[in-house]
Amino acid sequence: MKTTIKQLLQSTDYNRQAEAKGWVRNRRSSKNVNFITLNDGSTSLNIQIVANENINENILKEINAGACLHVKGTWQASQGAGQAGELVADEIIILGKASPENYPIQPKAHSFEFLRENAHLRSRTTTFGAVFRIRHNLAFAIHQYFHQKGFYYWHSPIITGSDAEGAGQMFHVSTLPHLNPPLTEDKKVDFSEDFFGMETSLTVSGQLEAELGAMGLGNVYTFGPTFRAENSNTSRHLAEFWMIEPEMAFYELVDNMDLVEDFLKYVIKYALDNCVEDLKILDQKFKEEEEKKKKEERAEMGLLEKLQFVVNNPFERLTYTEAVEILLNSPAHKKKKFQYPVSWGVDLQSEHERYLVEKHFKKPVILNNYPKTIKAFYMKQNEGEEVGKETVRAMDVLFPQIGEIVGGSQREEDYDKLLARIKEVGIDPNNLWWYLDTRKFGTAPHSGFGLGFERLVLFVTGMGNIRDVIPFPRTPKNASF
Ligand code: 4AD
Ligand code: MG
Repeated sequence: MKTTIKQLLQSTDYNRQAEAKGWVRNRRSSKNVNFITLNDGSTSLNIQIVANENINENILKEINAGACLHVKGTWQASQGAGQAGELVADEIIILGKASPENYPIQPKAHSFEFLRENAHLRSRTTTFGAVFRIRHNLAFAIHQYFHQKGFYYWHSPIITGSDAEGAGQMFHVSTLPHLNPPLTEDKKVDFSEDFFGMETSLTVSGQLEAELGAMGLGNVYTFGPTFRAENSNTSRHLAEFWMIEPEMAFYELVDNMDLVEDFLKYVIKYALDNCVEDLKILDQKFKEEEEKKKKEERAEMGLLEKLQFVVNNPFERLTYTEAVEILLNSPAHKKKKFQYPVSWGVDLQSEHERYLVEKHFKKPVILNNYPKTIKAFYMKQNEGEEVGKETVRAMDVLFPQIGEIVGGSQREEDYDKLLARIKEVGIDPNNLWWYLDTRKFGTAPHSGFGLGFERLVLFVTGMGNIRDVIPFPRTPKNASF
């Protein structure tokens, strides 16, 4: 098994033979010595390779940024400042060349846009190495959190015949020929001839199937890819993103809010405790990016400070109705600074959410009890409300710089109310017979939520664009790599 650069850097067992393999970040020469920085992705830190005159000139010529090396030599305490140990090379084997004329990632600052176009190589940069190591750690922390709490990892299907959110923005899955598909008598595509014998799509959410799991296993969670064909070209939307959807039997809305807050704090704290080096790099990067902005647009806290703050302070909880009051009384509304109008019943826009979080409360917010008309059919309806002012037990978690990071609710467990709502929003109940069955046989109060994984990674890394926190982003007109 190989020794990683991370392991070697941690070793103070000097003056012994050691090896390192990795990609060249940089090479500089002074007099008869060449200093090479090598990285293998195991850590953000590079190892310093010292190449003296014993290394053949033809080999040295190939040691350019991006080349892959196998170095054998002596691990020793470093002569220079900047690193504790260094590897003095006896032999350098070039595993893979990278020509300086063509290799895109040169040792200088590249823009995120440029690196996105070179996403196949960007994991070799300091910033993206840090982002993707943190992404891994967050995923691990999520599984750890739920496992410790006795939740079961439940795999909802990716191909589905139902449209969970009722949003209708789905990618179709079909093996029928594009040209001349089989048609029914009334000239519609005949999906009974298709692979699954029905019309199918990529799932927008694993929730409905997670509910089925919770009604037998008690507490479950999904963690898988979800797909939305919405044409939103924003820094917060992807067409393919990963979602974590816990679903809990016998949880009311308040339990759901307690769980989501505890969960988010746990995973953020996990990153603070386990990704120190990478977070420091991103904290510095965050500062540099903020300095490019106008003073009034800059974040009030640095990255690390912001993460500490979220972990250490209670989230603000308030109803949608209270939030609308605050917005209507805000200077931003009075001075007509909002692009979209606010009134009771409208779906809040990201500018409104961010006003509440960043300007008014200055901390994460859990907005709850939204108007029924702007939320999905499955949410539990509140009772005894004025006609036209009906609300459902929904909750959205809003984060600074992100806006909505989580959406969830208590679910409607009453068969008649659920069926009526399904019909009201125009969904064919026959397509949801299996979902309705859970309300027919041993129905139970239950709740759940969905965390957009990339929005969490965006928040924790302080990156500005969701395309930069997933290895290969899928967005409108872009599915390269
Ligand atoms: O609010 P949403 O649409 O809720 C659901 O899908 C529910 N079924 C969740 C549940 O109750 N089990 O999506 C949940 C979260 C959002 O809060 C957001 O963080 C993220 O998923 N999200 C997206 N992330 C990236 N790109 C997109 N296009 C996203 N759409 C939603
Ligand atoms: Mg939502």
